[in-house]
Amino acid sequence: MLDVGCGGGAAAFAVAARATHLTGVDRQQDMLDAFAAEAASRGIPHRTVLGRWPDGRGRSGQR
Ligand SMILES: C[S@@+](CC[C@H](N)C(=O)[O-])C[C@H]1O[C@@H](n2cnc3c(N)ncnc32)[C@H](O)[C@@H]1O
Repeated sequence: MLDVGCGGGAAAFAVAARATHLTGVDRQQDMLDAFAAEAASRGIPHRTVLGRWPDGRGRSGQR
């Protein structure tokens, strides 16, 4: 699942039970840090991409 403007992940984690992998994109590193910490605490495979959407779209795995 891709969450653009993920923040701390409130929206993503509300539906995370259905996801096999989370990618969080945000322009704020502190938000990505919170997103990653929550994903790790839940044992959900994840990665984060720092950047302003759509500038970081390629690094998110989206075309
Ligand atoms: C309302 S907050 C968090 C919303 C998040 N989906 C949630 O459920 O908690 C919006 C977030 O989107 C990020 N954001 C806003 N515009 C963005 C853009 N163009 N590219 C990347 N991040 C963006 C902000 O940095 C902020 O962390």
